[in-house]
Order: sequence, then structure tokens, then C-alpha cells
Amino acid sequence: MIYLDNAATSFPKPESVYRAMDEYARTSLGNPGRSGHKLAVGSERVLDEVRHLLNQLFHGEAPERFILTFNCTDSLNMAIKGTVSEGDHVITTVLEHNSVSRPLVALQRAGRIELTQVPCTAEGVIDPDAIRQAIRPNTKLIALTHASNVLGTVQPIAEVGRIAREHDLLFLVDAAQTAGVVPIDVQAMCIDLLAFPGHKSLLGPTGTGGLYVGPRARLRPWREGGTGGDSSSPTQPTELPYYLEGGTPNVLGAVGLREGIRFVLERGPDTIRNHELDLIQQVVAWAEQDANFRIVGSFDRTRHVGTISLACDVLPAAEIGQILDEAFDICIRPGLHCAPYAHRAFDTFPDGTVRISPGPFNTAEDIEQLCQALSQIAREAVQL
Ligand code: ALA
Repeated sequence: MIYLDNAATSFPKPESVYRAMDEYARTSLGNPGRSGHKLAVGSERVLDEVRHLLNQLFHGEAPERFILTFNCTDSLNMAIKGTVSEGDHVITTVLEHNSVSRPLVALQRAGRIELTQVPCTAEGVIDPDAIRQAIRPNTKLIALTHASNVLGTVQPIAEVGRIAREHDLLFLVDAAQTAGVVPIDVQAMCIDLLAFPGHKSLLGPTGTGGLYVGPRARLRPWREGGTGGDSSSPTQPTELPYYLEGGTPNVLGAVGLREGIRFVLERGPDTIRNHELDLIQQVVAWAEQDANFRIVGSFDRTRHVGTISLACDVLPAAEIGQILDEAFDICIRPGLHCAPYAHRAFDTFPDGTVRISPGPFNTAEDIEQLCQALSQIAREAVQL
């Protein structure tokens, strides 16, 4: 099998992730903070190690500001529903994933917030000036993806962060496609809330994610419950990270995530991203020669992650995905990628595109096989 769907979740994980999870589950898995015995204390230590690694990777203000969540959607809901109040205005963009746009549109339709969705350029990039122009007196939050999960284009986060800070707005960044491959410095980039999955480019297992909560952000808890610490308090203890982490955490997932982050730190996000970009460049070079496919958006190495979308005029994307899977044993993601506004903006709605997203363990040979398969599928469709 050739797996090229790392934008959905990375596969395979580094060997160290599998080994550590297997051993931990057999010998050490407890419920952190709850009971005071060695398994509980050891499990708390794992969570603490993960927070320290995240603080190092993203240059946060303190490890306890990293809330461990169950995925990026969990983090985004925590950030959005925890910050906005009745009558607030929120600025977002057409490049957002449903995990940002659905909670916001639902709040807008319920009459609770005002919402502006800023368009993107023909290259698939958000113009910071368009965000600046959308600011109103009641604007509270700017929510922006760091890289489009459809096009792979990286957005000008630092510039938008400066605008947010100048206007005293909260800045939420969805780093679903960048955490682990694009350097992120939450302090230098003026990011108040950074939402990220653990199971994509941080190379941990599914069921892991995080939210960085900077000192300017005051959140209401999205999930309340046991924290293991102060059981006598009638409401959620206000100390971070426990304030936002009600319920038993995914300790086993955190063990895997810890090893995934260590792998990323050892290899370096830039090295991993450059490898993935080399493979994407190979897809782009092939698409330029094959009349049946075209790249959607743009490809510029300096502002791209290892994800690209192809449009095909002779077969629907879903059909191509199915043939690749069944006849060639190649996994990609066809369709709308939970980002319908991006597809509307690029005229690929409702069929969507064929999205290719290699990971750190893919090779040039994998891409060669993919390109040959795509050419053959389209050629045969034309001949029918
Ligand atoms: N958000 C993930 C994707 O883009 C699942 O495929």
C-alpha cells in the first residue's frame, strides 16, 4: 500500500511511537493526578513531559498553557465557544475547515455573533489587508487556518497576528496542517490561541491534540468535570491546564505523542517539510505534463506545506480515489476535505479535488507510481 493521505492523519508513525505505547499500556497506564500511587504519578509525568515538549516546539509562555485535547476540532471548539459572547463579531476566511466554520456559522445563525468570511486570492492566500478592513468596533476574534488543508498554501500568520494585536483582538490559529512541519512561535507571531492535532505532523496517535492558551485569552471551559486535584470545589478549578481538561485524559495517546514530538524535534520540522515539498514538486512537474490534470491554487515552495489538490476534467474526484484505492492500492483523499468554502472559491464544488499529501516516510518511487496510475486512469477514461 502507498499511503498519501497524511493531511488527514499521518501514517505510518515512527517506530518509537508504536514501541512506547505498547510498553506503556502493558506496564504503566494509570489515571493522572487521581490516586497518588505510582501509576497515577507516572501518568501525570507523561502529560507534563508532553507539555514541556510542546512549549519548546511552539515557544509558549509556559508548559501549563498547553491544554491536551482529543483532536484539533476539540481544541477549536474549546477556543471558539470559550471566548465569544453575545454580540461579538468574528473574522474568519473561506479557507477554513468545517471545524472552524461550522461552530462559527452555527453561532451566527443562532443570532449570537456576527461573522465575516474574508475571501482569498487566486493563489489561495489571505491578504492581511482584507482582514484589517473587516475589523469592526465589536470584533473580538480573528480565526485563521495556518495552511489550507485543500490547497496546502501557508497563510501570513505573523502579519495577521500583528494586526490582531494592534487592534487588541484575540487571534486563533488552526495549525492542523502545519504543527510539526512549519516553525511556529506563538509569542513572536502574536498567537493567543493555537489549536493543533497530535496525530498529523506531530506523528502521534489519533485521539490527541492540543490548545495553547496565551495570557491574553480568557476562556470559559468547554468540558467540565473531574480534574483529580481539588475535588472539593463545586466548580472547575481555575488553574491551567486543569481548568480546561475535565475528565480522564488520553494518557496512552500522550505517550505516543511524546515520541512523535521527539522524532519531529530530532529530525527538525524544516527537514520534514522539505522532504514532503520535494515530493509535491514531483507531482506538480508531472501535472504540468499531463493534459488531464491541473493544480488547484498555486505551488510556491516558500509558502506551502506537503499537500496539493488536483482537478481532473475527465473523471470525478471520488471515482479517481476509489480506483486508486481498489486497483492500485494507493490512499489519497478525494472530495471536499471538510472545507466547502475553499472548493466554492476555486470552482471545484461539489465534486472536489484529488488531494495528495505525502509524509516523512514516503519516497520518490511512491510518487512515481501515483503519477503513472493517475495518467493511466484518466487515459482509460478518455478512451471509453
Ligand atoms: N482535516 C482532515 C483532512 O483535511 C481530516 O483530511
